[in-house]
Amino acid sequence: MNEIVELIKKLPKAELHLHIEGSLEPELMLKLAKKNKIKIPYKNIDEIKNAYNFHNLQSFLDIYYQAAKVLIDEQDFFDLTWAYMLKSKENNIVHTEIFFDPQTHTDRGIKFDHVINGIHSATFKAEKELGITSKIIMCFLRHLDEHSAFKTLEQALVHKNKIIGVGLDSSEVGNPPKKFKNVFSKSIEENFLTVAHAGEEGSPEYIWEALDILKVKRIDHGVQCLKDEKLIQRLRNDEIPLTVCPLSNIKLKVFEKLQDHTLKKLLNKGLTVTINSDDPAYFGGYLNTNFIESQMALDLHKEDIKTLVINSFKSSFLSEKKKKKWIDQINNLV
Ligand code: HPA
Ligand code: ZN
Repeated sequence: MNEIVELIKKLPKAELHLHIEGSLEPELMLKLAKKNKIKIPYKNIDEIKNAYNFHNLQSFLDIYYQAAKVLIDEQDFFDLTWAYMLKSKENNIVHTEIFFDPQTHTDRGIKFDHVINGIHSATFKAEKELGITSKIIMCFLRHLDEHSAFKTLEQALVHKNKIIGVGLDSSEVGNPPKKFKNVFSKSIEENFLTVAHAGEEGSPEYIWEALDILKVKRIDHGVQCLKDEKLIQRLRNDEIPLTVCPLSNIKLKVFEKLQDHTLKKLLNKGLTVTINSDDPAYFGGYLNTNFIESQMALDLHKEDIKTLVINSFKSSFLSEKKKKKWIDQINNLV
């Protein structure tokens, strides 16, 4: 097999941008729909896959939120997360930072505790049985108001030991980061780390707001930053990681084709870029597929792959000691 593909598969990797609801594979969706007696508009796997034809972020979110309705009890959230952990093992992901969207579930009457406990117990089992470490980040849905985000933060407080940070996702354009200024400031007071989706479809101004108003440690996506030279300088000087999701960007038409993706340009500008799968059940592949397809489309060299993988640990919320352990291991392999 191609040497660089071998290397991608062999390297230990961290994944920092993964929505657990976006790892719901059609097979599990059908199984849970049947078990929980939830009506979904698909009869079989082919019908589900045929519906995954997106023209922008919103057209994806409409299907993603609808599919999440099959998740009802704690066991469902466990099964969903465990399935992702097994995929992570296959992809040689040794550390993962998982997003979940509590409001998608609590707004349908599902208990916050059932959601977090199901996800958390699967990550606990994965550490014991698969040797994969995890952090959990809860995202506020930006199409809802700040009051709803505050209610969600309150529900999270008793689970502080299981949740490392807060993020911001869902429909970006028209819902700027500044809409969530107060809830992010309260989250920081409560010792949560902060990240936010910004500059996926939205303008560079949204990335500025995420940095200056929400005080985020990482920008999720961030690919629109190339339109603003001052912003690039800021991201480079402060070494703000960008959690880039190549296949997602193609499926949601941020770029027309993978050859047009700006990942390599971002790397060449000296930015801390990482590769991630976002919603792998919907976007055509898990982490290794994102790496391999990007490598082929953009002619990424061995050194680029090494930088991307080192960046994944450098940008993680692991302790400095654990980061060093993985980075030393990578340096020994490449
Ligand atoms: N962007 C915004 N919200 C999301 C995404 C995304 O890529 N995936 C799941 N929720
Ligand atoms: Zn995302």
